[in-house]
Amino acid sequence: MSEVAKIELDGKQYEFPVITGTENEKAIDISKLRDTTGYVTLDTGYKNTGATKSSITFLDGEEGILRYRGYPIEELAEKATFLEVAYLLIYGELPTQAQLDSFTNSITKHTLVHEDMKQFFEAFPAKAHPMGVLSAMVCSLSTFYPESLDPNRSAEAKDLTMHRLLAKLPTLAAWSYKNAMRHPFMYPKNNFDYCKNFLYMMFAMPTEEYDVDPVVVSALNKLLILHADHEQNCSTSTVRIVGSSQANLYATISAGISALWGPLHGGANQEVIEMLEKIHHDGGDVDKWVAKAKDKEDPFRLMGFGHRVYKNFDPRAKIIKKACDDILEKLGIVDPMLDIAKKLERVALEDEYFKARNLYPNVDFYSGIIYKALGIPTEMFTVMFAIGRLPGWISQWKEMTENKEPIGRPRQIYTGETTRNFVDITAR
Ligand code: SDX
Repeated sequence: MSEVAKIELDGKQYEFPVITGTENEKAIDISKLRDTTGYVTLDTGYKNTGATKSSITFLDGEEGILRYRGYPIEELAEKATFLEVAYLLIYGELPTQAQLDSFTNSITKHTLVHEDMKQFFEAFPAKAHPMGVLSAMVCSLSTFYPESLDPNRSAEAKDLTMHRLLAKLPTLAAWSYKNAMRHPFMYPKNNFDYCKNFLYMMFAMPTEEYDVDPVVVSALNKLLILHADHEQNCSTSTVRIVGSSQANLYATISAGISALWGPLHGGANQEVIEMLEKIHHDGGDVDKWVAKAKDKEDPFRLMGFGHRVYKNFDPRAKIIKKACDDILEKLGIVDPMLDIAKKLERVALEDEYFKARNLYPNVDFYSGIIYKALGIPTEMFTVMFAIGRLPGWISQWKEMTENKEPIGRPRQIYTGETTRNFVDITAR
């Protein structure tokens, strides 16, 4: 007999089906609630609300588990390439060699952006934040591919748009950096792999050979995998709701980039490094800053700490923290920010305020230290998050469109003025 939830309202009993996921997560299906009871639910921030059923990513916040299509993040970060993981998220299975070759070739041949787009870059001020540039440029791609506006286009045409985005995002990201530096743009090299190509476009100059360090390429590959998807987070939910109106994929991903920019979400990785540098310049008194983070009168928060879902260590933070020591040693870098971060983590995790609220380091706490070691400037950290998260956003959009989910349109509880008549300005 299928499980039901019983609700009593105004003296009447109602039953709603309970659905159970493959990992035994349970939900009350309230899709008929308003029609049968006249009530809606209220859940500001959707802390208790499932927006969809998805087979892409599973995470267990209590146990600190994260899997993409069933594969543990720890194994993928260690053994896979980023494009393998992108294929897995988008198409549901790890690719065969032939499938990966075809996927890679399709992406490689679309890494260039239309020459006319270079003028857009030149219109931005040198100090433009690259996330603002990236969001604008990604949406602008839709103007060069008007066929992408057709919501009923073929699966092959959808594939082409997905591959174009995966191919062009690193180019647009690298060029936003070059534009800010007022350095010449470097064109993609089709004989370089995905990560090496991005680093080349970011750091090479036309006047000299640029030798991409394999340690740096491997570190970037791991970081992109760790950021690739994270079920229904803020930016992914944005992608799903924008995509549910049948807006084209470029505009949909542009909205996801904008949501990710916020300091409470993907923008936290930039905030963490700026926080660590502030603590360092303030003399490194970690206890003082932990006290500030606990003080309700003080707006300061420990950036990179806490998570809506993880009430245990973010498994990605564990992997990145370990990779920090490894990569800084290989690159011969001593970064005082890492020592401050480790001390901050130790003090916070021993503090009752953080323990009582299950606040642990999240994916953003250590990632900036590695990006810095790879030579990525601080303002580009959230752009790196967007490059990593792109296959996740695409896979979630693809799942939502293939499941023909309805346009997202939440309800509300109105708390404003009840009806009243217009008053002429002379009588106000
Ligand atoms: C990402 O959702 C995802 O999956 C996101 C992400 C992904 O991969 O897509 O994992 C990526 O966005 C990671 C989070 C990056 N953000 C930060 O590091 C910013 C700092 N952290 C927070 O602002 C906060 O922890 C959030 C936004 C991440 C979560 O906020 P919630 O779930 O709304 O929790 P809350 O703000 O209600 O906090 C609960 C309590 C509050 O105290 P009380 O009211 O109970 O007294 O914990 C406190 C908060 O004040 N708290 C913190 C804190 N985070 C929460 N106090 C000090 N420092 C912090 N960082």
